[in-house]
Amino acid sequence: MMHLMTSLIGLGSHLAGWRHRDAWSATTMSLPNAIHIAKTAERGKFDMLFLADGNAVRQMDDPILFAATSRSDRPAAFEPLTLLAALSQHTSHIGLFATATTTYDEPYLLARRFASLDHLSGGRACWNIVTGSYPGDSVNFGRATHVPRAERSARAREFGEICKGRWESWAEDAFIEDKATGRFLDPAKVQRLDHVGKHFSVQGPLNIARPIQGCPVLCTAGQSEEGRELAAEHGEAIFSVAFTKAEAQAFYADLKGRMPKFGRDPGQLKIMPGVTIYVGRSEAEADEQYRELQELILPELGVAYLSKYCRMDLSGYPLDGPLPDLSGEVEGVASYRKSIAELAETENLTIRQTYERVVPSLGHVLFKGNPVQIADQMEDWYRGQACDGFNVDMPVVPRSLNDFVELVVPELQRRGIFRTEYAGGTLRETMGLARPARKLRHG
Ligand SMILES: Cc1cc2nc3c(=O)[nH]c(=O)nc-3n(C[C@H](O)[C@H](O)[C@H](O)COP(=O)(O)O)c2cc1C
Repeated sequence: MMHLMTSLIGLGSHLAGWRHRDAWSATTMSLPNAIHIAKTAERGKFDMLFLADGNAVRQMDDPILFAATSRSDRPAAFEPLTLLAALSQHTSHIGLFATATTTYDEPYLLARRFASLDHLSGGRACWNIVTGSYPGDSVNFGRATHVPRAERSARAREFGEICKGRWESWAEDAFIEDKATGRFLDPAKVQRLDHVGKHFSVQGPLNIARPIQGCPVLCTAGQSEEGRELAAEHGEAIFSVAFTKAEAQAFYADLKGRMPKFGRDPGQLKIMPGVTIYVGRSEAEADEQYRELQELILPELGVAYLSKYCRMDLSGYPLDGPLPDLSGEVEGVASYRKSIAELAETENLTIRQTYERVVPSLGHVLFKGNPVQIADQMEDWYRGQACDGFNVDMPVVPRSLNDFVELVVPELQRRGIFRTEYAGGTLRETMGLARPARKLRHG
């Protein structure tokens, strides 16, 4: 079955989507809007609700870039686990997928927060293990510069291992609570971690019962060499970036091919590229919606936005000339920069044409058309081993999400490639992911 998630951001995935007449008019810190998105996506039988995150107000030193990117850079946003804990009380099946960084957090605290969400939601927690896409996060944690990529990745690996160990602190049946005998817990059913490593030396155990899923679903986002190795070793889902089916297929084959060396079954990692969907009842209606939104973009914001994704200031270059060379290494998200450079080169695009392609989809691929055409494109990627599903971005919220659930989901269901009911209660059951057994550490 195809897997689907969608973002909880009420501003929409088109740069100007929030200005559209059908978009919500007040989205900042709105719990009712988040509940509406959650309930609609659950009605559409989505696997998960996704919340990206960061730890800074970004681009403060560049007013144009700040203006261009503020709606997607979340200068004001709920802390993901807190919001998802609230949403767990308004939903019953959909997965709750929170981004949390390993670069500026502690394994004990984070493992406890995710275990709490897993219990509160009846086994629906998912962790997006990121190492930080914005170099400027560092100054909020006592560092002058971003931690170099290789060190971030190594720390992320160790962090992930520790969290997995922490979630094995208690056996499932450790808490007896037997009123008759007076035994509250079984002391033989708890274990310490006693981890000593390069970045952390920690003892444990965690003061929370074993998560309902054994371990929250583990997801990564990052496609550099280090990012791929991390996903192949630990990831059960990956939020990826690909502009073309061929690019997605190459990534899919490469990543799944890396898993056997870690003793893992490739079916246990779901590759989910981002896609923005423009759906109308007819093709003409979808085209019209797209055209209307494109007209709302100011060129200076378009260039600034593209600059952010390319990690390079493009404002001094001619709007109708080619993109400069983007082949050098940069800190931060290399995946977007690489995909954009390939797109511009393959299709011989100018800077204006490139931002016109990137801006309607926040840097991801775009599918446009009537419900059958959208389902055709999704099915083509899915059956062509370009992905196991999608992170579906909605250009105008709530309209695009409602349209997707009413028009596209039934078409995918009719084709037998998307569920009509949830398979079980936990996210692992929904996604067909194995529940990890608890490893005994001492004796
Ligand atoms: C699709 C995608 C989504 C990401 N989302 C976040 C995020 O929400 N917060 C964050 O700090 N980093 C995010 N990242 C950054 C990754 O954690 C990682 O630090 C970055 O991608 C660098 O690795 P790479 O060069 O392998 O892509 C994201 C990356 C990708 C590709």
